[in-house]
This record gives sequence, C-alpha cells and structure tokens, in this order.
Amino acid sequence: MASGDIVVGLDIGTSKIATIIGNTWQSDPEKIEIVGVGTAPSEGLRKGVVVDIEKTTASIRESVKVAEMMAGVQVGSVYAGIAGGHILGQTSHGVVAVSGEGHQIIQTDVDRAINTAKATATPVDREVLHVISQDFVVDDQDGIKHPVGMSGIRLEAYVHIITGAVASVQNLLKSINNAGLSVEDIVLEPIASADSILTSDERAVGVTLADMGGGTTDIVIYKDDALRHTKVIAVGGDHVTNDIAQLLKMTPYDAEILKHRRGCALVELIEAHEKIQPPTVGGFQRPRLIPRQHLAEIIQCRMEETIDLIHNEIASYGTSTPAGLVLTGGTSLVSGLLELVQDRLPYPVRIGYPRPLKGLSDRVNSPIYATGVGLVMYGSVVRQSTESGRQFMKPGDNLFGQITQRMKEWFSEYF
Ligand SMILES: Nc1ncnc2c1ncn2[C@@H]1O[C@H](COP(=O)(O)OP(=O)(O)OP(=O)(O)O)[C@@H](O)[C@H]1O
Ligand SMILES: [Mg+2]
Repeated sequence: MASGDIVVGLDIGTSKIATIIGNTWQSDPEKIEIVGVGTAPSEGLRKGVVVDIEKTTASIRESVKVAEMMAGVQVGSVYAGIAGGHILGQTSHGVVAVSGEGHQIIQTDVDRAINTAKATATPVDREVLHVISQDFVVDDQDGIKHPVGMSGIRLEAYVHIITGAVASVQNLLKSINNAGLSVEDIVLEPIASADSILTSDERAVGVTLADMGGGTTDIVIYKDDALRHTKVIAVGGDHVTNDIAQLLKMTPYDAEILKHRRGCALVELIEAHEKIQPPTVGGFQRPRLIPRQHLAEIIQCRMEETIDLIHNEIASYGTSTPAGLVLTGGTSLVSGLLELVQDRLPYPVRIGYPRPLKGLSDRVNSPIYATGVGLVMYGSVVRQSTESGRQFMKPGDNLFGQITQRMKEWFSEYF
C-alpha cells in the first residue's frame, strides 16, 4: 500500500458500527483512498446514545479489527461521530469594536467576535462540540465571509454552536478509549454525512440533508455556504421495524428481514393481489398469507410521520432552500421512499450516496456509509490544518478548550 497519512472514521450508529480507513496525501486532501472497511452490529446504543459502554466497546473492537485486517494497518486514533436527541444546535451572534490600527480588522477582532457569540449561555451540563462561523457583518455590510483586512468600526459574528449532554459525550469517549483507541475529534454525524454527500452548489443555494438511520433522523440545513440549522430527531428505521413486529406479530429480527425484502413505503406501488407469508412467533400458529399492501401501509404510516417531522424543521428554519432535500442513511434505502417523499413535499428530493473516492470506494457506495466516509473526509481536512501537533480527547477533558484551539487553527487557515 502506498503510504500517505492514515485517517480513520468511526461511525457509532444505533444499528451498526462502521470503521473506515482512508489513506490521504498531505499535498492533496481530495485524493483520499479507502483502504479498509469494517462493520459490526451495534449492541450498546439506543436512539443514537451509548446506554451500555461494554457492549459498545466490544462492537467498536469488532468493526475496527475487520477494517484493520483489510487495510493491513493498526488503528490508533479515530474521528468519531456523535448523534442522539441530546444534541442541540443554536445560532448566536457577538459584536465587538474593531481595535486594529486605522480600524482595519485583524484576526484578533474576529476571534473576539466569535468568543463573544460563544459566550451566550452554554449550560454547565453541556459540552460544546462545534462552533461553526456562518458570516460576519462589518458596520452595516452583511454576508461577509472573510472580514480580515476590511475597514470598519463594528464587527459582528454569526456562529452556529452545537452542544451535547456532558454524560452522553463522556460515555461515547469512554467506549472508544476502552477499545484502545484515541479520539482525535468528535463530529456531529450529519455534518460528516454532509461532507460526503452534498455538493458545493447545494450548500451555496440552500439544501437540507436528512440522515435517516436506525435510531435517529439527523437534519442539517446549509445556505450561503454555511451550516444554519441542526436537529436530531429520535425516530428512525428501528421504529418501522418495531411497528411491523408489533402489528404483524413477529420478532423484531424477522420484521427487519421482512422490511428489507418485501417492504415498501408507498402502498400504491404494490399490486392488490400480492401476498406475503410472515413468519410466526413460536411454532404453533398456522402459516398465514396477508396482502403485501398491509405491510406497506405500516411502513408508509411511520415514514409519513418522519417526513412531516423533517418538513417541520425545514419550515421552522424559514428561509428558502432551493436545492431541496437530500435523504441518506440506511432508512433512505426503503423501497418506494423517494416516490413517497416526492409526492408529499413540494421541493426536489434525491437519495444521497457518498462521493466516489479512490481505492475500495465501491465497498462504501451506500447511504449507510455516508457518515463513515464523511468522517474520513472531515478528518483529512482537519489533519491538514492541525499538523502542528495532534491532540486527543479523553473523558473528563475540557473539550471546549480543545475546540477553541481547533477553531483558531481553522481560522488562521481560512483567513
Ligand atoms: N435495504 C434496506 N431497506 C430498508 N431498510 C434498510 C435497508 N438497509 C438498511 N435499512 C435500515 O436502515 C437502518 C440503519 O441505517 P444506518 O446504518 O444508517 O443507521 P445507524 O447509523 O446505525 O443508526 P443511527 O444513525 O440512527 O444511530 C435500519 O433501521 C435498517 O433497517
Ligand atoms: Mg447513522
């Protein structure tokens, strides 16, 4: 294997844990080669949150081992995804007077404006995960991306701050550290998915990405090249599986198989005469035949609810997003879903597959790997800008301090 710099994405999902090993070249972060992929069923999470550290650690170990064997490298550190209903995203702004000579804005003014925006109430029980700058206002001129060097009296920064519950973040860190791995960064899962799925044009004109996983549906909205809105909804494909199990009286295991093989999210796509034979619980009941439309009704009902929740988030953002909605994550693979969403929502919709990279890209060519591939892409960019020295996150650390440091490095990179 040609040796570049190894960057590892660890997607700790509710349904599966995926480890993706990328080989990147410092001179060109775009040239990422996928050299290892490992997945393992996820045992220790509910609705995106670690509820059993030991089981999560065991699943992480399993998935990392498979990826390591494929790549022929040993993984020491990872970029890890985080989600769950405890995640909150809010947009905040801060204003400072320009201090530089001749009122020319310098980097320190930008840092101060962002820090002022950040200072707006982060409760003690929450960790800051991301502080993402949106844009700046210099005096009355808004929509400015690069204020350094401009002249003005007053500088205003708009930032999107994403926080998570301290306990949930620490349990995630513990699970990873217990698997013998260091954490280079924790990344909100839909931000990673966006890196692998969305085009720069979509982010510029305005787009919503919904990562529909097993336990959660994670929503991010981009407009004018910046993240504007974040929401994690604790509804996913597991709910569909549970509905099928409950209503058709079968085990969740059998319901999952039936959903994949015969499921459909739009009743009208199924012929009225089509029948399915669901397995029974226990061996005593007689085999039964039921209309396949009945299965589709169950799935359609839950999917409509989820789509409406996504639509409500888009409506609550309140600004137009002409590039419409991109669906990704395993639940976007439910057959008939695209047709259902297109019927129900008034904007363009597509299913997002990870952008093709070099190497074993075909192994990750599924919406299921959107987050894992995105974590490698995200990590390769951060690695570029923090070559001065890597820092690793541990339970009990002040993540906020590290994030501030990371931001400074990004800003000096971009301005
Ligand atoms: N072909 C398919 N048809 C229908 N559903 C599918 C298909 N493939 C995967 N799924 C569903 O997708 C879900 C898993 O998706 P994914 O792997 O993106 O979730 P995750 O990342 O583990 O979970 P989360 O992000 O919610 O924590 C499961 O509910 C699974 O049943
Ligand atoms: Mg996921």
